[in-house]
Amino acid sequence: MSSNRRDFLRNSILGTGMLATGLTSQAASLINETSADGKRKISKQQFNMCGYSAPKLDKVRVGFVGIGDRGSGAVERMTYIEGVEITALCDIRQGAVDGAQEILAKAGLPKAKEFVAGDLGFKQLCDSNLVDLVYIATPWEWHVPVAVAAMEGDKHTAVEVSTAKTMDECWQIVEVSERTRKHCVILENCCYDFFELLTLNMVRQGVFGDLVHGEGAYIHDLDYWHFNKPQDEKMSDGAYTKMWRIHENKRKANVYPTHGLGPICQAMNINRGDKMDYLTAMMSADFTLKNRIAEKAKEDPFFQQFVGWDMRGNMDIQLIKTNKGRTIMIQHDVSSPRPYSRIHMLSGTKCFAQKWPLQHIAFGHKTADEKMMKELEEKYAPEIVRRMGEMAKKVGGHGGMDFMMDWRLIDCLRNSLPMDMDVYDAAAWSCITPLSEWSIANGSKPIEVPDFTRGAWKINQPHELTLKGGGTTGVKDLKKGGDKQLGI
Ligand SMILES: NC(=O)c1ccc[n+]([C@@H]2O[C@H](COP(=O)([O-])OP(=O)(O)OC[C@H]3O[C@@H](n4cnc5c(N)ncnc54)[C@H](O)[C@@H]3O)[C@@H](O)[C@H]2O)c1
Repeated sequence: MSSNRRDFLRNSILGTGMLATGLTSQAASLINETSADGKRKISKQQFNMCGYSAPKLDKVRVGFVGIGDRGSGAVERMTYIEGVEITALCDIRQGAVDGAQEILAKAGLPKAKEFVAGDLGFKQLCDSNLVDLVYIATPWEWHVPVAVAAMEGDKHTAVEVSTAKTMDECWQIVEVSERTRKHCVILENCCYDFFELLTLNMVRQGVFGDLVHGEGAYIHDLDYWHFNKPQDEKMSDGAYTKMWRIHENKRKANVYPTHGLGPICQAMNINRGDKMDYLTAMMSADFTLKNRIAEKAKEDPFFQQFVGWDMRGNMDIQLIKTNKGRTIMIQHDVSSPRPYSRIHMLSGTKCFAQKWPLQHIAFGHKTADEKMMKELEEKYAPEIVRRMGEMAKKVGGHGGMDFMMDWRLIDCLRNSLPMDMDVYDAAAWSCITPLSEWSIANGSKPIEVPDFTRGAWKINQPHELTLKGGGTTGVKDLKKGGDKQLGI
């Protein structure tokens, strides 16, 4: 039987019938034995990376792989964090590495070793003894190959979003992280935004009662970015190198689920007390992208290469049911002309919060006024915001959340603390891509979300919000103000 047919049959079994009666144990064991794309046999958990404290690192030597728009911002942010040494830089473009060396020079830091040796140049960096942490901001297709090489090379890794593209890749990072006991952190910066952190702490303090429902999204009209063709070697205009994003948007899936989902999963303690059980997905037709490509091709022959491509639809939606009976709705739209939104809505038995389009918190019918919002912020802003919030705003990166994320990552490594966003989160949040793709292709049938923790979600503890055992990492002299990185 061809693997496609085998996959179709298995997924059909998983996707139908069982929902009338709940997921059968037979169905559950099927998906635990074989990943949804049928390639991988799932082993038992070898070691629980959730809550794992890796040996303490006084200094964290960081190597960057992928130093385009996002990676260069990360290099700059890291120059402000004490205890960080930027020792290696890797990209396929010499211009990108040169740009990062300039950032180091401006910060008065020594030059880093360069790795510019084609698509697989990262292997030399990962095999070297120059770095403790490999920070990955390449296009999506390289995330997991680099992360796996890093962990196999005895390095921790932190990977941009979305971390993995396929179910096989999701299982691969879990298995390699467990075997090597190296962290594989998903760099979901939205988990560190101010309103997300405030509401997370309010959930932890019981203000929401029981959480019932959450909504998140990535709604961002990427028209400018999609059609911003490369101008120079350094990509100084911020275009996606080799137009990688428009290539990814051929895929009929939620290819970028984690900005909306990550903060909701943290609030619901997914993988740490609850888990996502199954999802169903739907996608609209494409009403704009194909037409925009045709328009652009008339203006500039460069865009002829994309004419006639079968693009993703404008909007895709996932509905997810959790084991504790909660519901989550995720949306993704990068091609409709509308304002940016990640929604970030949490609905509990005692409290409601939503960030987009207008940030508000409500108790029943009563919406908190300005005074009450201030009181809530004073009472419930978590420790990381109290300690780092103002500095993070100065350093910047999407209003400060990027800096809080990087600082926390380094502080955890320096204090031997578990990660806020571990490999199970990376896999569970990323796997929405292949699962939504399957559901969309199969008339929105439901499909089970694998339990990457293999049962450990029942005992895993929520991550620390108090900075207990850490918070010792300082920040260097802040000469700059303002924010370079605004588009997410
Ligand atoms: N968290 C956020 O808010 C946020 C925002 C923007 C981008 N991102 C993520 O950051 C990543 C990079 O996005 P970007 O906008 O910077 O793209 P980009 O195209 O500007 O940068 C990618 C870089 O990777 C390099 N590269 C490509 N293949 C490589 C390889 N094999 N080895 C080494 N380098 C390689 C490219 O030359 C380029 O410099 C993506 O995963 C994206 O989703 C996250």
